[in-house]
Amino acid sequence: MKSIIIRGGRTLHGDIAVSGMKNAALPIIFASILTKDRCVLDNLPDVTDVNLSLNILESMGATVERLGKTTVAIDTKDLAGGCSPVDLVSRLRASTYLLGAELGRFGSAKVGFSGGCDFGVRPIDQHKKGFEAMGATVTIEDGCHLVRSARGLHSASVYLDIASVGATVNVMLAACTVPGRTTIDNAAREPHIVDVANFLNMCGARISGAGTSFIKIFGVDSLHGCSYTIIPDMIEAGTYMVAAAATGGMVNVKNVIPKHMETVTAKLIEMGCGVDESDDCITVSRSTRLTGANIKTYFYPGFPTDMHPQFAALLATAEGTSTITEGVFENRFRYVEELRKMNAVINVYGRTASIVGTKQLTGSPVIAVDLRAGAALIVAGLSARGVTEIAKVETIERGYDSIVDKLRGLGADIELAEK
Ligand code: EPZ
Repeated sequence: MKSIIIRGGRTLHGDIAVSGMKNAALPIIFASILTKDRCVLDNLPDVTDVNLSLNILESMGATVERLGKTTVAIDTKDLAGGCSPVDLVSRLRASTYLLGAELGRFGSAKVGFSGGCDFGVRPIDQHKKGFEAMGATVTIEDGCHLVRSARGLHSASVYLDIASVGATVNVMLAACTVPGRTTIDNAAREPHIVDVANFLNMCGARISGAGTSFIKIFGVDSLHGCSYTIIPDMIEAGTYMVAAAATGGMVNVKNVIPKHMETVTAKLIEMGCGVDESDDCITVSRSTRLTGANIKTYFYPGFPTDMHPQFAALLATAEGTSTITEGVFENRFRYVEELRKMNAVINVYGRTASIVGTKQLTGSPVIAVDLRAGAALIVAGLSARGVTEIAKVETIERGYDSIVDKLRGLGADIELAEK
């Protein structure tokens, strides 16, 4: 069993480089199914979910060639639909994108139930609504989602009841080669939606409005291959910014797009951090005790839900009482029990965590119950007094590329232990 062991209390100093964005890489990997040509993807993060997605494509008949640590070539001309391995599919949420990609390529899809972090029910009713608007029927048979379009898909105007990232991506994937104009109203606006649209347009699609709540897709006859570089991971960047704030010191977070970090930057400044920006680097420093704050997570450009647990770990030692209200998922509070083991004073009322700042957390054995909860425990361990041992490291490795090595490079006393 692997665990991460942290001896806390050290300030962090130096440069840390952000990898490519997991939540952009995953949809783009599955989007490569839409073309029979070769696609070369660069700046892929070396994380489990990316490698698992590539394995799923290979098991369906695609050829995946590793051209470097962060670069792969994908050729799906021999890929068959409806045969993705249900055990692999069940291990990540992003396998949901197989529905839109298979539908766009083959006119039908058969995919097992996806997995991912447990925040309560993670339905796909909005994905279904989009597919049905385009003339498909969605049923469950043999433990799989089955999407059929007997008379072929047609263009449609889709209104999403929720600005769902997954549903926005899946409708874009399904609509690329459907004749006519398909629109998505109340679309998700996250930077990775723009990245997926940019990739598809590099393959010859005609998508406009990505990044706004109204996206237009004009169907084209077919898509061709392309070479594409994934954007930097705004959540990885935010995690390191919070780690710098939690420990004190001065950290240059490199390879970032500052615009994507605006809400995180604003909140850290509000709490008393120093934050300086250049075109691709954000420097975070902290020398005095932070003051508490209130956070409401929401769909982009709101405060990112994927930064919620990390900020809870930071607010746990800030002056005064703080709150975090979770506006995206109905239950993203599984991290609370683990932070309490480190003497955090957190109580949850409905969808709001109330956090009373203490002087310092104390190290403890804890469990990474989901990806960003694991990141929060690393942040907490770095600033805590004593030793923190984090179990279920594989949960963290799903979405953070070389996080232990990167933090050691900043002077953290952190190691990956095998038992
Ligand atoms: C993506 O999940 C990300 N995962 C999540 O990141 C992220 O937290 C989330 O977007 C929100 O930004 C990947 O990209 C692989 P949604 P997704 O569809 O697509 C509800 C991480 O830590 N909903 O935008 O599943 C849903 O239950 C992960 O990297 C419906 O009700 O998120 C949730 O409450 C965690 N019906 C809200 O909408 C639907 O059909 C947002 O979900 C779809 C979603």
